[in-house]
Amino acid sequence: MAEVSVRAESKSEGIVIHDDWPGYSLDLFSYPAHYYGDLDCVIIPHGVIMDRTERLARNIMDDLGDHDIVVLCVLKGGYQFCADLVDRIKALSCNSDHTIPMRVHFIRLKSYLNDQSTEDLHILGAEDLSFLSGKGIVGTGKTMKTLLKHVESFRPKMIKIAGLLVKRVQLSPTCVPDYVGFEIPNRFVVGYALDYNEYFRDLNHICVISESGKKKYKI
Ligand code: HPA
Ligand code: MG
Repeated sequence: MAEVSVRAESKSEGIVIHDDWPGYSLDLFSYPAHYYGDLDCVIIPHGVIMDRTERLARNIMDDLGDHDIVVLCVLKGGYQFCADLVDRIKALSCNSDHTIPMRVHFIRLKSYLNDQSTEDLHILGAEDLSFLSGKGIVGTGKTMKTLLKHVESFRPKMIKIAGLLVKRVQLSPTCVPDYVGFEIPNRFVVGYALDYNEYFRDLNHICVISESGKKKYKI
């Protein structure tokens, strides 16, 4: 449930998950049997994702004031986060006196093959943009920077980026979201719409893929 009063949270790295955190044993949770053997651990259980998303929705509402919102959901990895974030914003908006009109657009980005980032960034479906971006995962920030430049060319009044996950990569990131759910170690994670060659989007928790899982779904 939403708390009534919340302390303002300035731009933050979100909930920090440290490199030495072993994650939760898979035996403590339920997950689809077709992924047995394909995962190492759960690093963020679904319920925690939902609770953090609710707080991000609150922060976004507090910052936006009376501005209309155009949500730009970055597919495919961002669809679950975006849907849940929009849901929480809607719920907060319904329960307050100042309701904010919200439109939702979708954009598709693809830059990963297996667990590697490729140089090829494809932006699909980017006709009419202005916004707030709901993105699943931010690594180097290279993809996000390219997208941000594109969105800026439409001259929106304000642009805010929400990312569920930011990875601690070796290089310092070129672009960091305004709202971050979790900062995570530099490991390949799947679930909650994040995929490995299109698999694992149907997993609710965010998990670390195992070496045998990578082999099984490699292309
Ligand atoms: N998982 C899934 N997709 C990704 C990741 C990841 O860890 N990093 C960048 N895209
Ligand atoms: Mg992907």
